[in-house]
Amino acid sequence: MSDLSKITNIDDLRVIAKRRVPKMFYDYADSGAWTEGTYRANESDFQKIKLRQRVAVNMEGRSLRTTMVGQETAMPVAIAPTGLTGMQHADGEILGARAAKAFGIPFTLSTMSICSLEDIAENTGRHPFWFQLYVMKDRDFIERLIERAKAANVTALQLTLDLQILGQRHKDIKNGLTAPPKPTIKNLINLATKPRWCMGMLGTKRRTFGNIAGHAKGVKDLSSLSSWTAEQFDPALSWADVEWIKKLWGGKLILKGIMDVEDARLAASSGADALIVSNHGGRQLDGAPSSIAALPAIVDAVGTEIEVWMDGGIRSGQDVLKARALGARGTLIGRSFLYGLGAFGQEGVTRALQIIQKELDITMAFCGRTNIDEVDSSILLPGTF
Ligand SMILES: Cc1cc2nc3c(=O)[nH]c(=O)nc-3n(C[C@H](O)[C@H](O)[C@H](O)COP(=O)(O)O)c2cc1C
Repeated sequence: MSDLSKITNIDDLRVIAKRRVPKMFYDYADSGAWTEGTYRANESDFQKIKLRQRVAVNMEGRSLRTTMVGQETAMPVAIAPTGLTGMQHADGEILGARAAKAFGIPFTLSTMSICSLEDIAENTGRHPFWFQLYVMKDRDFIERLIERAKAANVTALQLTLDLQILGQRHKDIKNGLTAPPKPTIKNLINLATKPRWCMGMLGTKRRTFGNIAGHAKGVKDLSSLSSWTAEQFDPALSWADVEWIKKLWGGKLILKGIMDVEDARLAASSGADALIVSNHGGRQLDGAPSSIAALPAIVDAVGTEIEVWMDGGIRSGQDVLKARALGARGTLIGRSFLYGLGAFGQEGVTRALQIIQKELDITMAFCGRTNIDEVDSSILLPGTF
């Protein structure tokens, strides 16, 4: 057990993750598309929103507990799906799922994870978790994947709609990002400076896309796997596919990657249970607004018909509270989770969650509220949002 009491904020975890995780994987997490303008705005737009401090209000008996798509959560925060998480730390998805289970919040596994659906089920005592789906051209594979998710005790499906094509991430191109890392001289020299990470990787058999390898037709080795993945994202994805997935899945459905009011209306009329206002953490369309800036108009348009959540730029409990005040029933964290994982494995994820929970609780109290379900825009300073 490490003493993490001096780790007081998410940026502390980021700095340590940067030291411990090989450059190509750290950069994969801490980067956005093109100029990274949207990536940066996701964080900085939160800072512009100011809170109203209230005093002499009874702050006893505070509660952060709430629900997301009807499922109980210790706070309105879930772990976002992130690809290649098992490359930030050996067995990363299993560690993240275990930390989320102990904390009482939902964990979402990405289609592009290193640990598989079955790995998560087996290593968490079949605790319920969520799964994120990318629609691939190989629809037989998707049908089987959904069946596997059901068998693994997945209780909500996040269908990601904003990655029909891949945003251009310059750092990944420059680093020659692959899983496992390409043995170029530069990468080998960098790996030699990360002994802890290397030991972890040598100690696990999970080093490739666990949901795909051995399950997709024609994928036998690493090179066929990488070409299969590159050509499988479906540029023809449409709302008809959303309907098809909804029928196949039959359970709680969450549509991820909605940034526009028109699309939000379509999402609401699709019969999905929630939508996530998300620009994929600034990794797809650079030049899109920040998620927090896009949130209010979407809440106005469809907030009474469908649960509206958001992600992008959440680095503190204060950000969660601001999102909640602007109408997001739930939030997801990507990088705040990955930095904790890269820095200290499962303990680091737990630390990240503790930090966010504490900040959320204290900030809510300063704003004169004791129940997260009673937070609304009246806690924000007019003119700042
Ligand atoms: C390294 C990384 C990998 C990601 N992979 C996926 C993915 O496989 N599927 C998906 O729907 N979103 C993916 N996302 C987007 C996240 O689910 C989430 O929308 C985003 O991270 C939120 O922004 P934040 O990192 O600022 O919290 C990824 C994000 C990161 C940082």
